[in-house]
Amino acid sequence: MGMGFFNLIHFLILFHLFAATPIFSVSISTNFLDEAKKPEVFDWMVKIRRKIHEYPELLYEEFETSKVIRGELDKLGIPYRHPVAVTGVIGFIGTGNPPFVAIRADMDALPMQELVEWEHKSKVPGKVHACGHDAHVTMLLGAAKILKEHEKELQGTVVLVFQPAEEGGGGAKKILDAGALENVTAIFGLHVSPNDPIGEVASRSGPIMAGSGFFEAIISGKGGHAAIPQHSIDPILAASNVIVSLQHLVSREADPLDPQVVTVAKFQGGGAFNVIPDSVTIGGTFRAFSKDSFKKLKQRIEEVITGQAAVHRCNAVVNFQNEMKPFYPPTVNSDDLHEHFRKVAGNLLGFNKVNEMRPMMGAEDFSFYQEVIPGYFFFLGMENVSHERLNSLHSPYFKVNEDVLPYGAALHATLAASYLQKYQQDVPMVKGKYHEEL
Ligand SMILES: *[C@@H]1O[C@H](CO)[C@@H](O)[C@H](O)[C@H]1NC(C)=O
Ligand SMILES: *[C@@H]1O[C@H](CO)[C@@H](O)[C@H](O)[C@H]1NC(C)=O
Ligand SMILES: [Zn+2]
Ligand SMILES: [Zn+2]
Repeated sequence: MGMGFFNLIHFLILFHLFAATPIFSVSISTNFLDEAKKPEVFDWMVKIRRKIHEYPELLYEEFETSKVIRGELDKLGIPYRHPVAVTGVIGFIGTGNPPFVAIRADMDALPMQELVEWEHKSKVPGKVHACGHDAHVTMLLGAAKILKEHEKELQGTVVLVFQPAEEGGGGAKKILDAGALENVTAIFGLHVSPNDPIGEVASRSGPIMAGSGFFEAIISGKGGHAAIPQHSIDPILAASNVIVSLQHLVSREADPLDPQVVTVAKFQGGGAFNVIPDSVTIGGTFRAFSKDSFKKLKQRIEEVITGQAAVHRCNAVVNFQNEMKPFYPPTVNSDDLHEHFRKVAGNLLGFNKVNEMRPMMGAEDFSFYQEVIPGYFFFLGMENVSHERLNSLHSPYFKVNEDVLPYGAALHATLAASYLQKYQQDVPMVKGKYHEEL
């Protein structure tokens, strides 16, 4: 026998390794950014982004945005599922066979007034894309265009996820509930960042963003004349003490090394200088990086509000608004996908452009995907020091530096295509359990 058993095994392993080695990942990496920067692709993206910017739509009302997306997919000859989660669109590029890798964009705008004066300012009063989701949609369409041109080279299927309602509505959860991502073994998402340099990305392995919940409480006393307090039960003073006591949850009860936030951002009560009102409404948000800490905070917020209100002879009803604003789990990046991301983004942008970021207390509903599918979320810089300084996300002065569009398109496309290349062998499905109540 020329080849011993163990040598044969070695040979098979080596053969398998070489066979699974990306053959065109490097060429794809360089090509896709160049392709996305070509004037015909860039100008097309800019036009789409401005069109969406002019007609911002709020959570679960992204009907026109969805129509723009489907119109472009039709022109590109990309099949899709619609409607998914009211306005969502799920597109497919590639062989139609496993592996399936998803790339995701959120579509919704914010209920605020744009204060930037420019040619393509929001035409809808009180609504604006101040979180850059118009750019996210455009980048995903850009990736779709590039991937479609390379469809024959794809070694599996890229699933395009245009999801509604990231801003508080938990659109990602509805996409999952619709079963649209069955068989998907990895998902990538990005967010534009006005504070990071253009051409650079930032992320990390493990938790990057917090879990988030909202609460509202009505604290009821008994109204009356402000000059005769003994005949009233003052809900303003009760609410004030509630708010102070809520601050002790993080300062005195939480582990200082386990970051948490409780913020009361809403305080409504009374309307006159000389009337004690019947009730006060307070509301806010709480954040934590682990489910245990999150659950504990939620329980203690309720206890403190009702208990402290009772001290002041008031009644309190606490509502976590869970139906309207579902709790967002922490955003936790997969270790394996972090390695994949570092390689792909490093090849595309230069390894010195791939930054490690600190976790932040903001939340993202991308986390719902990560509860069932290994996922990776990263930030894409847009700041150009030769330009004016950019305002933060959710500012009425927020602007997108449109030079960022090719970077997002190329990263999406390259991450997906090289994932398919790398994971040719069947990837075991990870059965998640995102239905577990927080
Ligand atoms: C997932 O795969 C199964 C088995 O191949 C198939 O029956 C099902 O339709 C697939 N689901 C989706 C959403 O593609
Ligand atoms: C930054 O802005 C300058 C001046 O407009 C431009 O030449 C350069 O290409 C920009 N850099 C990037 C990475 O877009
Ligand atoms: Zn936002
Ligand atoms: Zn956002």
